[in-house]
Amino acid sequence: MSLILRRLEPVDLESTLSVAREFIETYDGTWYVDSWLDINNYSNIFFNPTEGFDTFIARFDNVAGFIIGKPADSRIYEIRHHYVMKNYRQQGIARKLKQFLTSYASDNGYRVVHSAVSKDNEASIRLNTASSWDSLPIEEGYLFFKRLPL
Ligand SMILES: CC(C)(COP(=O)(O)OP(=O)(O)OC[C@H]1O[C@@H](n2cnc3c(N)ncnc32)[C@H](O)[C@@H]1OP(=O)(O)O)[C@@H](O)C(=O)NCCC(=O)NCCS
Repeated sequence: MSLILRRLEPVDLESTLSVAREFIETYDGTWYVDSWLDINNYSNIFFNPTEGFDTFIARFDNVAGFIIGKPADSRIYEIRHHYVMKNYRQQGIARKLKQFLTSYASDNGYRVVHSAVSKDNEASIRLNTASSWDSLPIEEGYLFFKRLPL
């Protein structure tokens, strides 16, 4: 079955919540604040289109990963969460999700996409450097960013 990339639809919700549960149950770091570690916030806020977040999913039969973005202002679009299930990693799914979100931000008039990454997150640093995003040091890591064409 081929990979489908799209904005989260109601039919994707249960499977995407399973992905969020894997994230919460296996997360052992300090980068994500508590609100991202409560499954109720995914159904009520992050996956709820009326709350200002945009969720894009990658799925085969089941959802393999998601990326969540939110505008910071009229020019800056921020990646707020990005997760691929352990069984689906190292297949380019995170890169495709990031490209999908970046196209969305570009199509909707934003000038730059931001992604803050912990200095310990080797996979995410590699994901950003491999796609040639620029970066600035921030307190606990890096702010990766991609300028979008006018
Ligand atoms: C970070 C994450 C989303 C990457 O997902 P993925 O689907 O495995 O990534 P991709 O297969 O698209 O890989 C993209 C690049 O990162 C590299 N990469 C992926 N995992 C890596 C790892 N564990 N160590 C080093 N490099 C890694 C890949 O080799 C690839 O680089 P390349 O293009 O030079 O080959 C995934 O590991 C994850 O969900 N981690 C936990 C949550 C998290 O840290 N999210 C990001 C918060 S900012």
